[in-house]
Amino acid sequence: MKIEEARNYHQIDAVIVGAGLAGLRAALQVAKSGLTAAVITKVYPTRSHSGGAQGGIAAALANVSEDSLEAHMFDTIKGSDYLADQDVVERFVNEALKTVYEFEHMGVPFSRTKDGRINQRPFGGHSQPRACFAQDITGHVLLHTLFEQCLRHNVLFFNEFQVLSLQIKDDVCRGLVAWDIRTGGLHIFQAKAVLLATGGYGRAWKVTSNAHANTGDGVALVLEAGLPLEDMEFVQFHPTGLYKHGILLSEAARGEGAYIVNDKGERFMKTYAAAKMELAPRDVVSRAEQTEINEGRGIQGQDYVYLDLRHLGKEKILSRLPQIHDLALNYLKVDAITDPVPIQPTAHYSMGGIPANLNTEVIKNAAGQVVKGLYTAGEASCLSLHGANRLGTNSLQDAATFGRIAGSHMTDYCRKNAFADLPAKPLEAAQAKIDRLFAGGKERHADIREELQVNMTRNMGVFRNQDGMLKMLAVIKELQDRYQQAGVDDKGLAFNLDLIEALELENLLSFSEVIVEGALARKESRGAHFRSDFPKRDDGNWLKHTLAWRRDGKIVMDYSKAVVIYPQYQPQERKY
Ligand code: FUM
Repeated sequence: MKIEEARNYHQIDAVIVGAGLAGLRAALQVAKSGLTAAVITKVYPTRSHSGGAQGGIAAALANVSEDSLEAHMFDTIKGSDYLADQDVVERFVNEALKTVYEFEHMGVPFSRTKDGRINQRPFGGHSQPRACFAQDITGHVLLHTLFEQCLRHNVLFFNEFQVLSLQIKDDVCRGLVAWDIRTGGLHIFQAKAVLLATGGYGRAWKVTSNAHANTGDGVALVLEAGLPLEDMEFVQFHPTGLYKHGILLSEAARGEGAYIVNDKGERFMKTYAAAKMELAPRDVVSRAEQTEINEGRGIQGQDYVYLDLRHLGKEKILSRLPQIHDLALNYLKVDAITDPVPIQPTAHYSMGGIPANLNTEVIKNAAGQVVKGLYTAGEASCLSLHGANRLGTNSLQDAATFGRIAGSHMTDYCRKNAFADLPAKPLEAAQAKIDRLFAGGKERHADIREELQVNMTRNMGVFRNQDGMLKMLAVIKELQDRYQQAGVDDKGLAFNLDLIEALELENLLSFSEVIVEGALARKESRGAHFRSDFPKRDDGNWLKHTLAWRRDGKIVMDYSKAVVIYPQYQPQERKY
């Protein structure tokens, strides 16, 4: 039988993997042009992790201050520790206003100023109140609004599908193969254009703000397809993770005036960033917090400090920060109105990811050659907008803006190109993965995952050094070997989450190795990557992006051409 006649075969102009902000915004753009757009997502769309972003979406609207595009651009570049490509930042800040107004016109219920304009609050590393917000559930309302718009414009949804392989031949992407989680079975999607918008990968760590679904499936697929990943060593730790759980307590709390204090009751940020205090960028605040903990000034000498909102008062906490209040109450039984909340740094955001150019086309080498028909946007991508450290609220903006840009370029590409033939045996690689896990083995994948997460938290946290990273590499190699002996107990087809978790683990093990190799290679400290054995930034040698491939089972590194730097934004010492 021909592939095209199979029951589980779909031919769709643009296939978008991931139903977060980037994926939905791209899908909407394609669908509005009259082409067919399908979103493939392993969770129900409104459960995507963009919904977990709380504090706001950045744009220099200047509704409550004298803001400017130049200021947003400079703050983003400085926040990135000068590793951001400045042409990307320029495009980003310019498009940001349009993105917010589009959302407003779609019906997003933004919080308002007294005179009815979109309200804006301060956020870490931003020199002006620039975060447009809806209480502390901004990502949630953006995601829901966008989903409604996608339904309205007839985007097709394949919910609860796990993508298992990309179909790339002769540098042209031709579609993908995915497993139907609900009923079991592989589906072939032939597409003219594919977008990877699979989000981040905080689940490689034990303490993380990320949803369970954030297992880096898209980046691992790219690596498996023989393509590189960029700047994977840069992983952001958010300073206000709920103690032990890692769940995000939005930076909006500090934007509204909350303090962070140590065991002596001191606002210790005065020692580390006297001008910006708690509103320094996240890399700076997380390092300060971890230093306080490491030097014994955590609360009662333990591994946490306090987020103190009490002086904000009940009315402000409940009207501006209701979710934070609920989270502390539900998970730690702490009422933030009357008591300080225990917090610790939590793995939050990946600055690195799938390398792409300004058109969101995936690139395959340092010369910037592209894989035709393959695009990426949002946290899974690395354009590089955030460089070594992202500013809060730039992520929702990044996802929505570059999602729209991706959708436009995909539309053009689909209009100009016919469907390319699929490779001869499209199901082979995906079927082999499933068969191996069903055949079983003595290792339990849950144990391997736990060991990976615990060791990543221990060795690849806010501070790193060569010894810890070499240990981590050895752990990953051992776990990768053990994974070859792992299987699943559940042999059923319907909702086999045992199988999905085993498949996700392969991805976690794969890209984690790249994170460690990138961090070992980069012998300097920059942004979120801080090596205690190389504590200084080294612009002479390291003002460049890392690119990493898996070849013959090993990670091979290369470096991009120099970072794009404009004359007016030359690297300077980064002080706050
Ligand atoms: O703290 C927060 O609300 C997170 C926002 C972000 O990561 O951009």
